[in-house]
Amino acid sequence: MGDVKMRGLVTLKEILKNTRKEGYAVGGFNFNSYEDAQGIINGAVEKNSPVILMASMGACKYIGLHQTVGMIKGMAASVDIPVCLHLDHATDKEFIKEAIKAGFSSVMIDASEKDYETNIRDTKEIVDFAKAYNCSVESELGKVGGKEENIVVSEKDALFTKAADVPRFVEETGIDALAIAFGSVHGFYKSEPKLDFERLEEISKITDCPLVLHGGTGIPVEDFKKCVTLGISKINVGTELKKTYTDAVRKMCNELPEKEVDPRKYMAPVKVACAEVVKGKIEVFGSANKSL
Ligand code: 13P
Repeated sequence: MGDVKMRGLVTLKEILKNTRKEGYAVGGFNFNSYEDAQGIINGAVEKNSPVILMASMGACKYIGLHQTVGMIKGMAASVDIPVCLHLDHATDKEFIKEAIKAGFSSVMIDASEKDYETNIRDTKEIVDFAKAYNCSVESELGKVGGKEENIVVSEKDALFTKAADVPRFVEETGIDALAIAFGSVHGFYKSEPKLDFERLEEISKITDCPLVLHGGTGIPVEDFKKCVTLGISKINVGTELKKTYTDAVRKMCNELPEKEVDPRKYMAPVKVACAEVVKGKIEVFGSANKSL
């Protein structure tokens, strides 16, 4: 391991602070176990890039909240790049507070299903709580589509973030990053995604708050680059890594002789495959060699 600097987890605020000024975005990558998490970190190390490790509430419950923090803290302390541990899309305020107390350096409160005033109130409650723990907060305005994205255009418009709603939301909540809805969806796209770049541009002109693109799986390279140019600071990728993980395990299990019973034989390739995906995204997002 040599003379690696021992680092703790860094906040989202810290990891995103130069993104807009220097024209790059930091990847937020979802993980569900040790292998994908370590693969994500290995990929970022190879590119000397800052990285955001994201656990959903489901992933935290699967791994265990304290186990998640302990594992990522251990990984972060073993490498010389900034690592942020972020709770992704959490809707349960009590769970978010537990995650903050457990040591997450960033959380997302997703109150986007609620009305504007309640979204402000709930987000502010989490921002106020997180301050004492030096933890960052991301929140969502508008609604990023889910897996059933068969929405007609007029409905889509109603779900997209409205630029006019942004300044008061950012000001009153005191958030460190804002997730916006402008055409991306979570999961696989059924057809080519159509991002509303004009809306993104309008929003980034109206606020300095770092903006987050959710639903990174399936977005074409040129669209990613345009998003970064127009002011996106954090890009979330989840489903592509899940597929990479599963494909790697399936391939190895098919190839290995039945008498092979060492789990490391089929799990180690997950780390390599996830690292490859992350390296590719880092090149596109422009965060290579942005590790401070
Ligand atoms: P994808 O699963 O579509 O990549 O989206 C991930 C995400 O936005 C997590 O918040």
